[in-house]
Amino acid sequence: MLQKADKFVSAAQEDVNPRWYPQVHLAPAAGWINDPNGISYFQGRYHAFFQHHPYSAQWGPMHWGHFSSEDLVTWKREPIALAPSEEYDLDGVWSGCALEHQGKLYVLYTGNRWANGKDDGDGSIQRQCLAVSSDGFTFTKHGPVIENPKGISNFRDPKVWKQGEKWWLVLGVETPEGCGQVWLYSSADLYTWEFDRVLYEDPDPDTFMIECPDFFEVDGKWVLVYSPMTSVRRQGYNQRNGHNTGYAVGNWTPGGDFEVLKNFAQFDFGHNFYATQSMHSPDNRRLMFAWMGGFTLPLASQAADGWSGQLATPREVSLGEDFGIIATPIPEFDRLRENTVDKGAFTVDTDSTVEIASDMSVGEIELTVDLDKTSSEQVSLLLQQTSVDRYTEVAYDTLSNRVILDRGKSGSSDRGYRSAPYVGGAELKLRVIIDRGSLEVFINDGRYSLSSLAFPAGDKRGVSIASVGGVIAVSDLKIHSLRSIWGN
Ligand code: FRU
Repeated sequence: MLQKADKFVSAAQEDVNPRWYPQVHLAPAAGWINDPNGISYFQGRYHAFFQHHPYSAQWGPMHWGHFSSEDLVTWKREPIALAPSEEYDLDGVWSGCALEHQGKLYVLYTGNRWANGKDDGDGSIQRQCLAVSSDGFTFTKHGPVIENPKGISNFRDPKVWKQGEKWWLVLGVETPEGCGQVWLYSSADLYTWEFDRVLYEDPDPDTFMIECPDFFEVDGKWVLVYSPMTSVRRQGYNQRNGHNTGYAVGNWTPGGDFEVLKNFAQFDFGHNFYATQSMHSPDNRRLMFAWMGGFTLPLASQAADGWSGQLATPREVSLGEDFGIIATPIPEFDRLRENTVDKGAFTVDTDSTVEIASDMSVGEIELTVDLDKTSSEQVSLLLQQTSVDRYTEVAYDTLSNRVILDRGKSGSSDRGYRSAPYVGGAELKLRVIIDRGSLEVFINDGRYSLSSLAFPAGDKRGVSIASVGGVIAVSDLKIHSLRSIWGN
């Protein structure tokens, strides 16, 4: 049953089982979401478009779904903005960006066609297309502005910015030799584009394609955040997921090469963090959105509950020591806090578990621990706990000096743990955003994070802190309840 895209919002929210459905994360009312697209500010509102399949909880012919907000705190679900309709985008309106120019919102996206007319078996034709809107909600398509070069099949995800008098665009490419590259184009008018140069090639020989490149200046350096596609299974802590995102840092001036100072590094080590897109906000901040979902494993919500995926909490990005990305929840997020319980300082005795909330499906924990006075091998938070042996664990582990997020005992999630480096010194700070079906952990003000979907087993979900073979010296613990982000 196909409905006309401009009248169609999404499948009805009433059809969705609420048990894991997000309250403080952006998600369509039902169906499938992947990449954030067209993150922008236009005519007094923030716009977050997204890759959307409204007709099922599986990836399919992509549409651009749409959320908007006045303040980045309360959001509205808007009607679908772009649907496949033309010869050049019939197999999907794929990822892209949006920016204001002369009072209009310009969107550049990838129009996808399968070469064999049915699937990606024989490659695809991917053209960068332009669409323009006067109100930010309805768009007129102008068709391709960058054609797919011959011999290249993966050629997509345009991201545009203005520098001086010119527009610049990066996109991701798989070369005929199987290398992942980022190509740079420039334009005087957004309609006619000239190839400038290969901006970047991933030095990792296993990367065959780069998805969703995003190139921006922050704290005096140029940062390329991108999502490399590889076919190998990794050893060690890095790039554990089917799909991982990271970044490179360097110097760049228009007309020159990108002089790389730091090659691929991750900043989020969770199970589900991919395909980021950032924007430059009117108040001069770099705000980053990302997708929490998965292409490689079926999610429990997909099969049973009629929805799949959500966007990560928007983050403000800066550069720290060693050109490391620091990404913290935008300060606006704090305005969702409704009620705060301040537990202050206390000690957790050796080998004991202290309950800190008996029922917290949605909320936020801010924990500060004095590691000099802590002898416990782990500082462990048991979250989404529905019984003695059903919870998701977030722990600072003194043996590895890392922070882990372990879904080994979660309800219906895939198993396995993820682990992020700890670089914080004697004052451990963990900030955890708990939603009905996910956890995001920010370590020492966002130098590293772990973002994972996690689906608890029951409805009453406790939070505890637990020690192992020693005491934990908590210097401060705050628990916030959070109201929903939805204004409709
Ligand atoms: C990344 C991605 C993009 C593409 C889109 C299609 O998740 O594969 O490269 O444009 O999703 O939905």
